[in-house]
Amino acid sequence: MMTVSFKSIASWSIVLLIVIQFVPLQRINPPADSGIKLPHSLKSFLKQACYDCHSYETRWTSIAYIAPVSWLTFSTVTSGRSALNFSTWNNTDNPEIKLSRSKIMSVILEGTAHQRLYYFLKPGAQLTASQSRELLQWLKATSEKKDSTWFKN
Ligand code: HEC
Repeated sequence: MMTVSFKSIASWSIVLLIVIQFVPLQRINPPADSGIKLPHSLKSFLKQACYDCHSYETRWTSIAYIAPVSWLTFSTVTSGRSALNFSTWNNTDNPEIKLSRSKIMSVILEGTAHQRLYYFLKPGAQLTASQSRELLQWLKATSEKKDSTWFKN
């Protein structure tokens, strides 16, 4: 009796795993033409550590195609992009973007829970101390500019 129900649970789980692979997800990277402009080396730091969740240049890895992991990846990227999107940084006069500059600084300083698993799985993506310092310096310097070109930096 036990074995039968275990077997049926196991086989239904396999069926379910197969079926959920067909739930469509829009794993797209829309064109990114108005991204944040900053010195090349600094941009590469952001690309390394933040772009997978905060841009339209997500490097979708193979795990991002296997449900249910793909659902988690997808929802993380979706909420990451809506919190902060470096690809549309220049496309908006939204004051929240300005606000996010200080938020970015605090996230770089303190780190957040959402990044921990990602950096655990991709240790090479995490910013080094000196990369963080360079980014913080740039963010601080540019956020002191109050003129109309503020958003275009
Ligand atoms: C694994 C995906 C992932 C990575 C990598 C990642 N983030 Fe996030 N980030 C998110 C998600 C999801 C949210 C929205 C939910 C939340 O605030 O926890 C977010 C929110 C934020 C916010 C808004 C916080 C707030 O209080 O509104 C900032 C700023 C931010 N991230 C900066 C960064 C920076 C800078 C990096 C790179 C150093 C980075 N993130 C890397 C997923 C990520």
